[in-house]
Amino acid sequence: MAGRLDGKVAIVTGAGSGIGRAAAQLFSAEGARVMCADINKKGVMETLDAMPGKAAKTAIALKVDVTVPAEVERMVADTVRTYGKLDVLYANAGIGESCNAIDLTIEQWSRMIAVNLTSLWLSVKYSLPHMIAAGGGSIINQSSSAGLMAVPAMPHYCAAKTGVIGLTRQLALDYGPKGIRVNAICPSAIPTPLMDKVWTKRARDAGSNMSIPGLEAATAAKLPLRRLGVLADCANLALFLASDESSWITGTAIPLDGGLAAT
Ligand SMILES: NC(=O)c1ccc[n+]([C@@H]2O[C@H](COP(=O)([O-])OP(=O)(O)OC[C@H]3O[C@@H](n4cnc5c(N)ncnc54)[C@H](O)[C@@H]3O)[C@@H](O)[C@H]2O)c1
Repeated sequence: MAGRLDGKVAIVTGAGSGIGRAAAQLFSAEGARVMCADINKKGVMETLDAMPGKAAKTAIALKVDVTVPAEVERMVADTVRTYGKLDVLYANAGIGESCNAIDLTIEQWSRMIAVNLTSLWLSVKYSLPHMIAAGGGSIINQSSSAGLMAVPAMPHYCAAKTGVIGLTRQLALDYGPKGIRVNAICPSAIPTPLMDKVWTKRARDAGSNMSIPGLEAATAAKLPLRRLGVLADCANLALFLASDESSWITGTAIPLDGGLAAT
C-alpha cells in the first residue's frame, strides 16, 4: 500500500522523546526517509530501535543541539548528503519550564528563547536553500496553545511559542511563491516528560501535593473533549501537514487542544 510520504525526505528535531519520536516513527512508517535529530543521542537511538524493520532502514539518527548553528548546518547537510534532498522539516525540539516572571533568571529566559524560538529559525535558515532548489517543501514549526493564549507561570515559554507563530506567518509570506508551506502546530496538554516536569513544578509552587495523574485529570476535565491529547494526535497532524494532502495550507497556527481554544 502506498505511504502518505512516499518519496519524501524529512528532518524531525527533538526525535528522541515524546511527540518528535512519535512523528519520526509515523513519517517513516508512511514511506519517508527520516533524519531523527536530538541532543539526547540515547533517545534518538531508542527511536530508531523501536521502528519496525523496514522503517528503521529508512531512518538515521544524529546528536544535534538545535541552538548551535554549526550543528544545525551539519544536520541539514548530512540529510541531503545521505538522501539527496529535503522535503519536510518538523522543527519540534523544545523545552518547558514553569517559573514566574520575578523569579526567572536571564539564563532561564535566554535558554528558553534559544531552544524554543531561535533554533527554529536556524533549522529553517539551513533547510530553505535545499527546498527552494527542489521547487518546494513543507516546514512544520512546533508552537503551543501557550502561543495562542496565556498560561500561568510560563512567561518565557509563552513569549517563545508566540514568536514561533509570528515566524511561521512571516516565512509563509516570503517563501510561498517558491512552493514552500510553513505551518505551526499548537498543542495543549499531551503527557510527555516535558509536561510531567511542568506539572510537577507548578503543583509544588502552588503548594499542592496533587499527583501527576490528578493534575492530568483536572486539566482534561476543563477541555470540551474531556481528555488530554495523545502522541498520535500530534504525529497525525504533523503527517497531514508534511504530506501533499495539505498542499493549499500555509501560514496557519493550528490548535490541537481538545477544544481549549474555543473556551
Ligand atoms: N507535550 C505537550 O503537551 C506539549 C504542548 C505544547 C507544545 N509542546 C511542544 O512539543 C515539542 C515536543 O515536546 P514533548 O512534549 O514531546 O517533550 P519531550 O521532552 O518528550 O521531547 C522534547 C525533545 O526535545 C529535545 N531537545 C531539547 N532541547 C534540545 C536541543 N537544544 N537540541 C536538540 N534537541 C533538544 C529533548 O532531548 C527531547 O527529546 C516541544 O517544542 C514542546 O514545547 C508540547
